[in-house]
Amino acid sequence: MRTSLLAAFAALALLASACDEDEAPAEPSESVDESPEGAEPHAGIDVDDPSVCAGCHAEVVREWRGSMHASAHHDADPIYGAMRTLRMGREGAELATKCANCHGPRDPANPDSAVARQGVSCATCHALEGVERGEGGRRRGAKALQWSPNGRLRGPHDVTSDAAPHPVGEAAPWITDGETLCLACHGEMTNAQGAPTCTTGTEHQAAAGDGTCTHCHMPEVAGPSGAVSTRGTHRSHAFLGPHTLWAEEPEPAFMASAVALEGTLEGEALELRITNQTQHAMPSGFPGRMVLVRARGLDAEGEVVWQNFTDAPMQQDPDAVLNKVYHDAEGQPILPPYGVELVRDTRLRPDETRTLRWTVPEGVQKVEVALIYRLLPPPAVEALGLEGRPEAGARPFASLTVER
Ligand code: HEC
Ligand code: HEC
Ligand code: HEC
Ligand code: HEC
Ligand code: HEC
Repeated sequence: MRTSLLAAFAALALLASACDEDEAPAEPSESVDESPEGAEPHAGIDVDDPSVCAGCHAEVVREWRGSMHASAHHDADPIYGAMRTLRMGREGAELATKCANCHGPRDPANPDSAVARQGVSCATCHALEGVERGEGGRRRGAKALQWSPNGRLRGPHDVTSDAAPHPVGEAAPWITDGETLCLACHGEMTNAQGAPTCTTGTEHQAAAGDGTCTHCHMPEVAGPSGAVSTRGTHRSHAFLGPHTLWAEEPEPAFMASAVALEGTLEGEALELRITNQTQHAMPSGFPGRMVLVRARGLDAEGEVVWQNFTDAPMQQDPDAVLNKVYHDAEGQPILPPYGVELVRDTRLRPDETRTLRWTVPEGVQKVEVALIYRLLPPPAVEALGLEGRPEAGARPFASLTVER
């Protein structure tokens, strides 16, 4: 399967990719305190160590541990780790601190420190006195986050408790609006040539719906957030996304919620309608993501007598591949960080309903449709040396059976 898919995407050449920060001159940061090293630890609690939070906020810590935020460090995420190594080899070791602005934001200057290893940690989102993204959202990651100078931890509620071992305060507006905090890292990025790479934030602005990022990615779940909470529910910190399909405890319902599928089969005409329910593009985020729409027609005996592609979807049915492709100045496919132009973007737009039509043999009695997710296209898997790893494979996340 892997070999044949590799052949299928050979035409795309190196479609490896990375979220990239553009080369715009950095604006001076207005952080209250630029580095957490300057923070005064309060009464002995280390805000940069999530394990100390567990005694009082256990449920949240447990959820976060399973999230990609907890695994954002290069030693914890094989895809990021391999891409970072590849790019540092081409662009120089100084790239490491740039990546760490978002992947280890509490200590980006020292990407291998114990603090940076915690990835997008509790303190990243809660030890804040403000989020300042600058004009056009140019300040990203740690550069946009204004650290609290005394380790004060703010959340969605006005907290006056004397019981907390850390300073608390009023509800933080960048948390309660459900997106300002997220957009510091998930807004929009372009590569050095100005081609858009990761654009979840701008995609979301184009959506008609009024759901915020936290509305979908931090749903309300049963049970208190930990021993000190007086509430019966809390907002999940699992931050679900496509990686859940590869997780030890997968949550397939979240990924299935990305789309609604409807289909009809009449005579030789098969029609499939895919509605994007995410309020950003689908797939969103990292530019190497791809979704394959596979349809298989079965006859009365249950034998597969037709399929929209076998081993070469990009050649056999390019409309059934939802992805992005970048070209270099010579018009050849290239890694997104090095592309001069985004030449193909067949992902579902926010709110879009896409209709795909096929002609199938009359003998087809029913059609099994599956949407299949890939974190990376096969040539990138090879370039990154990730062959054989589970994350290099393809996983179905939504399905529909269309009957006559
Ligand atoms: C402005 C913040 C930011 C910076 C800077 C950044 N990233 Fe990311 N990165 C993200 C986000 C957010 C994601 C999650 C996917 C998405 O939304 O694009 C991500 C995901 C990735 C992934 C996919 C990981 C996976 O498990 O699938 C790779 C690879 C990656 N980044 C590489 C890099 C490299 C290499 C650098 C440095 C050159 C870098 N990133 C710099 C924010 C950033
Ligand atoms: C990526 C940012 C992010 C990270 C990382 C993060 N949080 Fe949160 N946290 C939030 C947001 C946003 C909310 C508020 C959600 C809402 O109510 O709208 C929240 C809410 C909370 C709450 C209030 C829960 C309640 O009872 O309603 C607590 C406590 C909390 N977080 C603790 C933690 C701890 C401990 C960690 C680390 C294990 C952590 N957070 C990591 C963003 C984050
Ligand atoms: C000894 C218990 C204790 C420890 C340890 C602790 N906290 Fe708290 N925390 C509290 C109490 C008590 C409150 C106020 C009651 C509440 O909001 O649930 C609170 C409130 C918070 C809030 C505000 C929640 C809201 O609803 O707005 C955040 C955010 C928070 N803590 C984060 C953390 C993080 C991150 C850590 C670890 C670095 C941590 N806490 C460690 C007891 C603790
Ligand atoms: C209506 C629900 C909804 C809203 C609102 C929403 N998302 Fe999503 N998001 C999803 C679903 C479902 C997926 C999984 C399908 C996919 O990957 O596109 C997803 C995927 C993602 C991913 C994974 C991308 C990757 O490359 O791994 C990121 C990051 C993300 N969303 C961030 C955000 C941010 C930031 C916002 C706010 C600006 C937001 N989302 C708003 C539902 C939503
Ligand atoms: C300091 C930067 C930063 C902030 C702030 C941040 N994220 Fe992320 N987020 C990341 C990075 C980096 C990744 C990718 C980690 C990796 O794959 O290595 C990521 C990954 C994700 C994913 C993808 C999970 C998956 O399965 O692929 C989702 C969903 C997500 N973030 C949602 C949010 C939401 C919602 C908020 C706001 C409450 C938020 N993030 C705030 C940096 C950030």
